[in-house]
Amino acid sequence: MKVVTGFVLGWVVLAVAALLLVFSGLYNVAASKQDNPIIAWLLSTTMRRSVAHHADAAAAPGPSTEDQVRQGFKLYNETCVYCHGGPGKDPVDIGQGLNPEPPYLADTVGRWTAPELFWIVKNGIRMTGMPSFGRTHADAELIAAVAFIQRLPQMTPAQYAEFEKQPEAESSTPQ
Ligand code: HEC
Repeated sequence: MKVVTGFVLGWVVLAVAALLLVFSGLYNVAASKQDNPIIAWLLSTTMRRSVAHHADAAAAPGPSTEDQVRQGFKLYNETCVYCHGGPGKDPVDIGQGLNPEPPYLADTVGRWTAPELFWIVKNGIRMTGMPSFGRTHADAELIAAVAFIQRLPQMTPAQYAEFEKQPEAESSTPQ
């Protein structure tokens, strides 16, 4: 009986401590402040595991075509580059001020499978600056964006600039 009482009391104390932390305002929510390493590890591991669990391998985009890559560039350069930067392009002030920082995708894209990347871009990552694009963009556009970001690791600044000069793909919706 004593053990049970102690157990319950332990939870009550924990709950009161948590509420005190919430209502005292002592927890600093400033984006300019780095999370302590334990919280940062917990959040990033939760994010990686969640994406791996929810990504649908069946939604695997097939091998990408050059048209998709070009189409994907358009979305990337209009929408993503501000936060993530690109070859020869720094993120703008929005991307630089976010916490967690938007990763430089050329360095990180290889850690994810195509279905995982598609899931991230379609659904976004809650409580971070990463938006969900599923409501505003067709799957085909997002698959094209994935095709493009998978090219980033091999892309030089000159090649990125070359994409900017290219006329837009004939149709705005990839087939
Ligand atoms: C407003 C800023 C913002 C925009 C715009 C944005 N992202 Fe993100 N993105 C983020 C942030 C912040 C993260 C990091 C989330 C985290 O660490 O949990 C992220 C994470 C990602 C990741 C996971 C990368 C990794 O290695 O963790 C991918 C892939 C990604 N974004 C792709 C895109 C694509 C493609 C676009 C455009 C269609 C885009 N993002 C637009 C802020 C942004």
